[in-house]
Amino acid sequence: MPAPSSPLKAVRGTRDLLPLETALWNRIEQTARSVFARYGFGEIRTPIFEATELFARGVGEETDIVSKEMYAWEDRARAQSEKAQSLTLRPEKTAGVVRAYIEHRLDESGMLQKLFYIGPQFRRERPQRGRYRQFWQIGAEVLGPAWSGADSALRDAEVLEMLATFLDELGVKGWKLEINSVGSSTDRPRYVAALREALEPVKARMCENCQRRADTNPLRVLDCKEPQDQATIEALPKIADFLDDASREHFAQVKAALDACGVAYTVNPRLVRGLDYYTRTTFEFTVADGRGLGTQNALLGGGRYDGLSEMLGGPKAPGIGFAIGEDRLILTLQAQAANAAEKKLDAFVAPIGVAQNAAALALAQELRRAGLSIEVGDGAFRLKKSFDAADKLARRMVILGEDEVSSGILTVKDFSAGEQTKVARGDLAEALRR
Ligand code: HAM
Repeated sequence: MPAPSSPLKAVRGTRDLLPLETALWNRIEQTARSVFARYGFGEIRTPIFEATELFARGVGEETDIVSKEMYAWEDRARAQSEKAQSLTLRPEKTAGVVRAYIEHRLDESGMLQKLFYIGPQFRRERPQRGRYRQFWQIGAEVLGPAWSGADSALRDAEVLEMLATFLDELGVKGWKLEINSVGSSTDRPRYVAALREALEPVKARMCENCQRRADTNPLRVLDCKEPQDQATIEALPKIADFLDDASREHFAQVKAALDACGVAYTVNPRLVRGLDYYTRTTFEFTVADGRGLGTQNALLGGGRYDGLSEMLGGPKAPGIGFAIGEDRLILTLQAQAANAAEKKLDAFVAPIGVAQNAAALALAQELRRAGLSIEVGDGAFRLKKSFDAADKLARRMVILGEDEVSSGILTVKDFSAGEQTKVARGDLAEALRR
């Protein structure tokens, strides 16, 4: 038992979200649901934990996520019929969605599957602003058999255009889209081999991280932010020169469709992303003014994963998807103060004297049923206390004394206009809606 003097706190890298903040979270999630529905997406909910093997095979043993950031544990068998197995809190959701696609034979309909999700993910990263150990993603995946058109460049552009629409509807200012193509599953190994070879003579003068990555995972060298390594990295071979004709054509089609929709982008040849399943298109949205995020300026990321289903033992099911870092979206919106203005309730009903409490509750009931947001005070409070509480919480205060109850004429104080009016009870809901 902890000593009474040391109250328990949320675990490092996790945090509580309180009502003032959750209002913005809910607005973001409602906007996502409404935008995604217009593009034909349905929601999928998968378990918070999965077999460790899913991420080892899907995300890749050599990635940072799998090699050092997963919350994994040996789950003991509780009965003779069970086997102990290694389980993991999901660090991302794409592998779980593709597992569910395979498990439920979603390929059998022959239709394109458009699935979205909202929920927490877990990575044991070094916590900092915009980087948590439990964080939220809003994501979506589009996948299906090849004859459903799941591999078409049209889908890549549709997903990117949907994200642009979502960010614009939320009022995020100054977002930037970067895209790249990492080629097919045969282009990529050729590129990695070329990168390894080019790094061999220069790696000794690079930072410690790059030296290690040059051997273990050369693609990750491209992520390095150390200023002294940038010239060396710029001189390394570019993935674009290793794309086969089909991948090159696919990327050209993605760009042409984005141009047709007027979605602005830049091609970043270094954008290879940190998960092994990517093929062809990869992308990230960043915020130019990263004040809200500090160095964690990637709002969201994603890409195509044409071989992931087969890697997990399923049928061929090309796909593309993304995940938005919801925590980062919140920080961005708060920093931009686009929608940070706190929402106030429609009215605060203030009974004068305990005798009016029941009548106040009945009035609140009537107004809430009319669709208004209402808080009720307490007749035991002095008027000054009710007034202060009402001013904090609501746009207006409805005063309910003995006279008001008997006459049916209520006094309404409007805080922003600074005026007080008399309103008949029958007109009250309408007046508060204005
Ligand atoms: P990811 O780039 O690892 O991709 O994560 C996507 C987004 O999640 C990041 O851009 C960032 O906004 C947010 N994020 C990641 N780690 C953290 C963290 N520790 N704290 C706060 N936010 C974080 C994926 O997860 C892929 N599953 C995306 C995808 C879907 N690709 C295809 N389909």
